[in-house]
Amino acid sequence: MWRPLVLVLAFLRVLSPAKGLELELSDLSSLQHATSLVADGLMDYYEGFHLGGTIGMFTNPYYWWQSGAAFGSMLDYWWYMENDTYHDAIMQAIIYQAGDNADFMPLNQTTTEGNDDQGFWGITAMAAVERNFTNPPEDEPQWLYLAQATVNTMWERWDLEHCNGGLRWQIFQWNAGYNYKNTVSNACLFQLSARLARYTANDTYITLAEEAFDWMYGAGFLTEGDWWFVYDGAFVEDNCTEIVMLQWTYNAGLMVSGCAYLANYTGDDLWLDRTENFLHGIQVFTNQSVFFEAACQGSGNCNTDQRSFKAYLARFLGLTAQMVPSTAETIMNWMNTSAVAVAQSCSGGTDGHTCGLNWLYDGWDGFYGLGEQMSALETLQNTRALVRPAPYTAQSGGSSQGDPAAGLGTKTEAVPPLKLTNADVAGAAIITAIIGLSVIAGAIWLLL
Ligand SMILES: *[C@@H]1O[C@H](CO)[C@@H](O)[C@H](O)[C@H]1NC(C)=O
Ligand SMILES: *[C@@H]1O[C@H](CO)[C@@H](O)[C@H](O)[C@H]1NC(C)=O
Ligand SMILES: *[C@@H]1O[C@H](CO)[C@@H](O)[C@H](O)[C@H]1NC(C)=O
Ligand SMILES: *[C@@H]1O[C@H](CO)[C@@H](O)[C@H](O)[C@H]1NC(C)=O
Ligand SMILES: *[C@@H]1O[C@H](CO)[C@@H](O)[C@H](O)[C@H]1NC(C)=O
Ligand SMILES: *[C@@H]1O[C@H](CO)[C@@H](O)[C@H](O)[C@H]1NC(C)=O
Ligand SMILES: *[C@@H]1O[C@H](CO)[C@@H](O)[C@H](O)[C@H]1NC(C)=O
Ligand SMILES: *[C@@H]1O[C@H](CO)[C@@H](O)[C@H](O)[C@H]1NC(C)=O
Repeated sequence: MWRPLVLVLAFLRVLSPAKGLELELSDLSSLQHATSLVADGLMDYYEGFHLGGTIGMFTNPYYWWQSGAAFGSMLDYWWYMENDTYHDAIMQAIIYQAGDNADFMPLNQTTTEGNDDQGFWGITAMAAVERNFTNPPEDEPQWLYLAQATVNTMWERWDLEHCNGGLRWQIFQWNAGYNYKNTVSNACLFQLSARLARYTANDTYITLAEEAFDWMYGAGFLTEGDWWFVYDGAFVEDNCTEIVMLQWTYNAGLMVSGCAYLANYTGDDLWLDRTENFLHGIQVFTNQSVFFEAACQGSGNCNTDQRSFKAYLARFLGLTAQMVPSTAETIMNWMNTSAVAVAQSCSGGTDGHTCGLNWLYDGWDGFYGLGEQMSALETLQNTRALVRPAPYTAQSGGSSQGDPAAGLGTKTEAVPPLKLTNADVAGAAIITAIIGLSVIAGAIWLLL
C-alpha cells in the first residue's frame, strides 16, 4: 500500500482504536463468528463471485497457485468450523481448474505453470480426500485421482541430469527459474507422496517420499542437528553446490508435516525424530509464540505470495499435531497464542476487521490482501485441530476414488508464448533480482 496512506490510516486508528475480532478461543460460536468475518473477507477477492469472473481464480495480482491454496484454506474452514456456506463454491472451483487431463495443468496456465503451483492445487485435492469432502459427480475428476495425477506427473519430471535428481522449479524451459531446483516443489512432492502412502496404504509411495527426502537432504537443502532448517533451493549450473539459504515458513511446514504423516503411518522412529527436529527449527518463525515470516516481515518486504505463507505453516502444523501427538502441546501453544494475536490484528480496512501481516503489531499494521486473510483464517481455525477427526484414510472413513496410474501417458502440450523476446526475459530477470535482493537484505540475520 502507498506508505503515506498507511501513516494516515495509522493516525486515524490512534484517534479511534479498533478492537479487532471479538474472540473467546474456547467458545466455538465465538470462534465461528470471528472466522466467518475473516473467511468472508478472503472470498471478497474471489473472481468467481463477480460478473464475468473466472471460476476458481482470485482477482489480480493473485496468481493461480494462490487460488489453489486459498481453496485449501476454505476447505479447512468448511471442515474445522463445520460450515457449509462455501461448500459448493469450493467443489466447483477445484473441478473447474483441474484441466482437461485432470492433473491441474489447465490450458490457461500451462505456459507459466511451475511444479510448486501444481503441487499446491494437488495438496488441496488431497485435503478433500482426507476430509471426505463430498465426491464430485461420476463424470468429473475425483479428489484422489487428482492428487495421484499431480504426484505422477511431477515424478515424470524428476530430473537426474543435474544435481543427481530433484525437480526443477519450472516445468517449461522458457520460464525464468527453469534453472533453479527449489525446495518448495520438491517438498510438495515429498508431502503428497507421504500423504498418499498413509491414505492408500500403498508402500510404493513411501519409497517415493524417501527418494524426495533423501535427495533434498543430500543436496544440502535441509540441515541436520537438533534444529533442522529448510533452505530455499539451488541452481543447476553449478550442480546445486551453492545453496540459497533463505528460510520460509511454508517450506518448513511442508517438511514437518510430511515427516509427521510418515511417522504416523510407519511408526518408524526415524520419521518421528525428523518431525521433532523440524518442529524445533520452526522456532525461528515464532516471536513470543506468535508466527512471523522471518525472512521478509520485519523489513516490510514480503511480496504477494510470501504474505500467504503463514497460512500453510498453520495448516501443516495443525496436521502435524494430529499425526504426531507428542508435538501437539508445542504446536497448540503457538497456534492459540498466534490466534489471539491475529484476532487483534484483524481490525483494519473500511469493514473494521481486515487482517494485517504483522500480528505482533498492536492493532492493524496497514497491510491487507488475500494472503493476510488466508494466514489469519488458517491460524484461527487450526486451534480446532485436536477437536476434529484426524485426516481419514481409505480404511478409516475416506471414500474418494482414484487410480494409481492417473495422469500418466497424457503429457500436456504447452505452446511457448509467441511474444517472448530477449527484452522480456531480461526485464523479468531484473525484477526478480531486485525482489531477491530486498528479500535477502531483510533476511540477512537468518544467515548469520
Ligand atoms: C488451545 O485452545 C484450545 C481451545 O480453547 C484448548 O482446548 C487447548 O487446550 C489450548 N491448548 C494450548 C496448548 O494452549
Ligand atoms: C457460516 O459461514 C457464513 C459465511 O462465512 C457465515 O455468515 C455464518 O455466520 C457461518 N455460520 C456459522 C454457524 O458459523
Ligand atoms: C481460461 O481463460 C478464459 C479467458 O479468460 C476463461 O474464459 C476461462 O474460463 C478460463 N478457463 C479456466 C479453466 O480458468
Ligand atoms: C553433482 O552433485 C551430485 C550430488 O548432489 C553428485 O553425486 C554428482 O557427482 C555431481 N555431478 C557433477 C558433474 O559434479
Ligand atoms: C496417528 O494419528 C492418530 C490420529 O490423530 C493418532 O490417534 C495416533 O496415535 C497416531 N499414531 C502414531 C503412531 O503417532
Ligand atoms: C519480536 O517482536 C518484538 C515486538 O514486536 C520486536 O521488537 C522484535 O524485533 C521481534 N523479534 C524479531 C526477531 O523479529
Ligand atoms: C464419507 O463419505 C461417504 C460418501 O458420502 C459416506 O458414505 C461415508 O459415511 C463418509 N465417511 C465418514 C467418516 O463420514
Ligand atoms: C502403488 O502405487 C504405485 C505408484 O503410483 C503404482 O504403480 C502401483 O500400481 C500401486 N499399487 C497398487 C496395488 O495400487
